[in-house]
Amino acid sequence: MTSSPDLRAAFHDTFNRPATVAARAPGRLEILGNHTDYNDGVALSLAVDRETWFVAAPRPGTVCAVRDLRSGECREFDLKALANPTPKDWANYLKGMIVELNRRGVTVPAFDAVIQSTIPLSAGMGGSAALEMAAGLALTQLAGVELPWLELAKAGQACENAYIGARTGLLDQFSSLRGEPGHLVFSDFRSHEVQAVLLPAAVALVVANCLVKHPHTGEYNERRTRCEEAVAFLQVKHPEISALRDVSVAQLETAKPGMEVMAWRRARHVVGENGRVFAGIEELRRGDVRAFGRLLDESHDSSRVYFENSCPELDILVACGQALPGHLGARLSGGGFGGITVHLVREAEAAAYAERLATAFHSRTGNRPETMICHAAAGARRA
Ligand code: GLA
Repeated sequence: MTSSPDLRAAFHDTFNRPATVAARAPGRLEILGNHTDYNDGVALSLAVDRETWFVAAPRPGTVCAVRDLRSGECREFDLKALANPTPKDWANYLKGMIVELNRRGVTVPAFDAVIQSTIPLSAGMGGSAALEMAAGLALTQLAGVELPWLELAKAGQACENAYIGARTGLLDQFSSLRGEPGHLVFSDFRSHEVQAVLLPAAVALVVANCLVKHPHTGEYNERRTRCEEAVAFLQVKHPEISALRDVSVAQLETAKPGMEVMAWRRARHVVGENGRVFAGIEELRRGDVRAFGRLLDESHDSSRVYFENSCPELDILVACGQALPGHLGARLSGGGFGGITVHLVREAEAAAYAERLATAFHSRTGNRPETMICHAAAGARRA
């Protein structure tokens, strides 16, 4: 496992002087509440025990150098020339973060940095937000400024929206910053209230990465536009509605005949997801982990049928899981269109479940997924 001393040593090896700041930020698993964040909705997620590190020291001038220890790649960029992102480059997450920190009055000095991560790439586990949050914590320390957690989260979101061009919400940043060991993070994206919700001790999370990622930036943004169209339609009769958060399933059923079919289906998913988050909290409070798990299965069905952000590989993983001993619930997690499924399973069965899941998927597709048993971890910290 990555640790602060290892990375400080790697920094020294690379730049021949000691690092002065270090921060780590975890990825996330979305448990319920899919595509609810940019609809002023609610979600249950967790900070996962896979993380990204950012270790740095200031340097004179305006040029920064960053080495990614996982790929061995290096990037150099000038703080005076951040206006234009380089297409499809991971350094955009750092450059965009610096732009957003500057906008918030934080003057980031030139720096050298190494980064390292144990979060699977492009899997839908919040790797981008983890890099933003780790860099944000380390670079604000370099600048001698403290940003409140919500501002840091919003800087990360703004980096994705404005610099990367993905109109994402705040789920990944909230989860990375506010996670607690053994707990889910309940986030309300309207009030920005966050609460820890205890995960039952007897359950484990098996994550399966189907290792397929269908290109989705365009699809993601398109889903968001359809949600906005649904709100605009519903507002004509119900001016009090300002986001899908304000809409009930009954209202949607009444509005269905006049509504554009895609806008209706996307809205139906989001409204259902908000309901499942509140129902899920209630089931956990009652200690009914089976009923909680069923909500995950329902969530996946809703993704598949209404939001159409699943794909054959994810559907097969969920179906294979549903046939296994120990299964409580499974669904895609995050944006969708590939990446991971998350399976809530009985702790005692977790290792066998992961093995059988991989075998069953392999026999149906010829490919082996990457499986991991994951836990809820602490949120981002300086180290
Ligand atoms: C991605 C985005 C989040 C959220 C999820 C779907 O992870 O980054 O903001 O919208 O998809 O819930």
